[in-house]
Amino acid sequence: MPVNSHDFVAALVAEMDGLFAQLGETDTLESEAEGRVDVVTLLKLALKSEMEASELAALWLPTTPEVDAKMCLALQCGDEMKHYGLISERLAQLGEDPAAFDPLADGHSPLYQYLRGLRTTVERIAGGPFASEAIAQVRNRQFVAFCRSAGDGQTADLYESVIQPEEAHHHRLGRQVLEKHAVTPELQELALAATRNTLAIADELRNLAAKTTGIHSIPVS
Ligand SMILES: [Fe+2]
Ligand SMILES: [Fe+2]
Repeated sequence: MPVNSHDFVAALVAEMDGLFAQLGETDTLESEAEGRVDVVTLLKLALKSEMEASELAALWLPTTPEVDAKMCLALQCGDEMKHYGLISERLAQLGEDPAAFDPLADGHSPLYQYLRGLRTTVERIAGGPFASEAIAQVRNRQFVAFCRSAGDGQTADLYESVIQPEEAHHHRLGRQVLEKHAVTPELQELALAATRNTLAIADELRNLAAKTTGIHSIPVS
């Protein structure tokens, strides 16, 4: 008996939430910034994430045939570059010159390299809008709390009022697409592997790998 796609996706969400529950309150920030936790460094790293998310959505759009998945990717492509612009403006207010900063100077991230190789719609949506945007929400929650503790209410407000609700929307759309299309055991297997690989590769979750029940111990099958 194939698992109902709604139950399948609910189980994936529960698995992700269980993983996120193991995170300390600044773990995602320390992981991605390799310990250099300050607002400007984290905003610059966010520029790279936004750029990569936008590029991936654009890359996948013409070779993803399902129209609902295209809508999800097209919206995300635009929104992520909008976030890029908003974060650049905030960096300028903080005295940085965003035009002088190239977020891809060191190349794309390992997660981007993995995601760009995915060929099927369920894998792309699972790894991209569904899992990556879930990670983004956790990271942004930690970032907002960090900004408030550092006295930067303006950056926190930008995330809470615009960026974070849109990442949540991307994740919800990804979830709906998976619920619609991950309807056979084979497709669910692909979606599961893409979700778990994304969680295992994401820079923001690197600290989890060091914990005893870390993500690398979860078998991909
Ligand atoms: Fe974004
Ligand atoms: Fe997003």
